[in-house]
Amino acid sequence: MDWKTFLAPYAQVVEELKVKLKGMREQFEYESNHSPIEFVTGRVKPVSSIKEKMKRKNISYDHMDTDLQDIAGVRVVCQFVDDIYDIVRRLRTRNDFHVIEERDYIQNKKESGYRSYHLIIRYPVETIYGQRQMIAEIQIRTLAMNFWATNEHSLNYKYEGKMPEKVQSRLKRAAEAAFKLDEEMSKIKDEIQEAQRIFYTYKRKD
Ligand code: GTP
Ligand code: MG
Repeated sequence: MDWKTFLAPYAQVVEELKVKLKGMREQFEYESNHSPIEFVTGRVKPVSSIKEKMKRKNISYDHMDTDLQDIAGVRVVCQFVDDIYDIVRRLRTRNDFHVIEERDYIQNKKESGYRSYHLIIRYPVETIYGQRQMIAEIQIRTLAMNFWATNEHSLNYKYEGKMPEKVQSRLKRAAEAAFKLDEEMSKIKDEIQEAQRIFYTYKRKD
């Protein structure tokens, strides 16, 4: 398996999507002083994680490009829950890719406590041999959801899936707290945004 060649178009997708989503954020900042996008990150799934997931989900090499939907992954992090749905609506109507699946883990949170909105998209990438349709995953979540998911992911990694009950229940409580935080912030959203319009110069611009 020539991983470098296989992953190259996925790396292209990740880079292009990052440029486009950061472009949205910039336009929001110039034109409205509030961006529903706080920041954007992206990554190509490491080969070790690809192999682990193929084993776990019983996916063969032949079906990797259709069945492994998060080889190319980008993440959009927002301040408020409403911002997530705003972004989703905008992404649905774009002409440069197609949303082929939506998973609302905000309305239907996972057993772990995980919350996020996932879009699976089909994205055309130009290669030297012509166009290729690639699958990519866009995760959209609030800062609070991101804080929780990042920490939970680290713990999962540390315990290799065998997390002690005590840690698991703490994480569930933390997920509840993150949910409450999002709720409370939503209630004072207008005031926060007014303050941010006044102090917009302090917002990150990188
Ligand atoms: P995996 O869960 O990755 O095997 O993928 P899947 O094909 O079952 O899709 P799913 O929508 O469940 O998850 C896709 C991605 O969402 C994962 O790769 C993670 O990045 C993220 N995710 C899903 N569940 C959790 C969770 O419980 N905790 C954290 N931290 N991330 C999660
Ligand atoms: Mg899963």
